[in-house]
Amino acid sequence: MRELAAGPGRVLSALGDRMPKGLYARSLLIIITPMVLLQAIVTYMFMEKYWQGVTARLSAATTKDIAAIVELYQQMPHDKGTTDLLQLVAQKQLALGIEFRPLEDLPPRGARPFFDILDQALSDEIRMRIGLPFWIDTVGRSDFVEIRVKLDDAVLRVFARRSQTFASNSYIYLLWMLGSSLILITVAILFLRNQIRPIQQLANAAQDFGKGRDVQNFRPRGAREVRQAASAFIEMRRRVERAFEQRTAMLNGVSHDMRTILTRFKLSLALLDESSPEYEDLQKDVDEMSRMLEAYLAFARGDAAEQAEATDIAALLEELRANAIRHGQDARVSFQGDPIVVVRPDAFRRCLTNLVSNAQRFARTIVITGVREQRYLVVTVDDDGPGVPEESREDVFKPFFRLDEARNQDHGGTGLGLAIARDIARFHGGDITLATSPLGGLRANVRIPV
Ligand SMILES: Nc1ncnc2c1ncn2[C@@H]1O[C@H](COP(=O)(O)OP(=O)(O)OP(=O)(O)O)[C@@H](O)[C@H]1O
Ligand SMILES: [Mg+2]
Repeated sequence: MRELAAGPGRVLSALGDRMPKGLYARSLLIIITPMVLLQAIVTYMFMEKYWQGVTARLSAATTKDIAAIVELYQQMPHDKGTTDLLQLVAQKQLALGIEFRPLEDLPPRGARPFFDILDQALSDEIRMRIGLPFWIDTVGRSDFVEIRVKLDDAVLRVFARRSQTFASNSYIYLLWMLGSSLILITVAILFLRNQIRPIQQLANAAQDFGKGRDVQNFRPRGAREVRQAASAFIEMRRRVERAFEQRTAMLNGVSHDMRTILTRFKLSLALLDESSPEYEDLQKDVDEMSRMLEAYLAFARGDAAEQAEATDIAALLEELRANAIRHGQDARVSFQGDPIVVVRPDAFRRCLTNLVSNAQRFARTIVITGVREQRYLVVTVDDDGPGVPEESREDVFKPFFRLDEARNQDHGGTGLGLAIARDIARFHGGDITLATSPLGGLRANVRIPV
């Protein structure tokens, strides 16, 4: 009631929340609900009008026959001849089995049957036409209905065939109706399945593509609109893939060309006078530049053609921990949930390795936590280092960006680590975020859909 008071919008949305979410289930509901409603209405009308009417008429006819027997019995001498004659006539002409029994009390009324159209109709008729105390049993013996009427000096016991009093074959119509609607529903289910499957396939393909997985033998199928959407998806995927390839190829080319020039630089450098003051600075710059290029080239190469496959993430985290310990760090690792996740194994390892190696560089303690929830895999890398100030947490993801040159001076970072890590996480449909760790340093959160 409260929902009603809140307006129809609320009721509808509450109803919507309870509805099944899948397209298949919803379409079935759309077909089945009107069908069941129609059946219910038709059945009700049928029972109400036709069935009750016929039953009432049949009961009336039987009751008239019984009334005639009662009348005859009351008018004729009460001897054996009369009862035998009545019995014979009833049996032969009225198809009623009758019996006159000595006067006795009628048995108590039994429990009324649950479904008591017959009981009701027959009782009404007897009360109206005969007007004597009576007892009926419409449930007892299956094929017969028993009626007892208390006369002045005897009890008349009548057995009538159930079909005589009751439109019992009406069940057949209901069965027909039920049967035919079952057939209709089955046909609807089969057709619907075929129509909905292409939509499900399209949804799965789009989802897989969003997670960076390979979409295998997906073809437009089904109704025109679904085909249209599928073709649009395929076209879109091609363009995205082309853009990716182009980016990689272009940067690859640039890096290659620059490497050639760098080599020339190095050669010229070798010819320079080693004792000049500029020599060392130049040497350093050239080294750094070639390291950057190598790092980028390695990334571009590795990215190219890896396939996503089921990977044991718990084992991967364990590997990272072992590595960190080998480097003299204090590292802990934990994993919750099903560790098998479909990812590009090498790329994902590189993503996590970049985060852990940053922590290794800046901190003493590293805690790696993996949690696989219903729809996401979340890996958190915590450390107790200096952290990254909030205003720089986006900047550090930029390629070649390094927070604090002084801090980084003696290590050979290029500033590509986080950029690459985020690229990989996004390729898997997820992302990386940075925060302050409970340990005091940086917390890096990798979250990808599974
Ligand atoms: N765990 C961390 N604690 C403190 N600062 C960090 C941490 N991780 C990254 N940073 C800062 O973010 C910058 C960018 O990190 P990124 O991994 O992209 O590059 P890098 O580590 O300098 O070089 P590379 O990873 O390519 O060797 C780092 O130079 C550092 O200043
Ligand atoms: Mg790094």
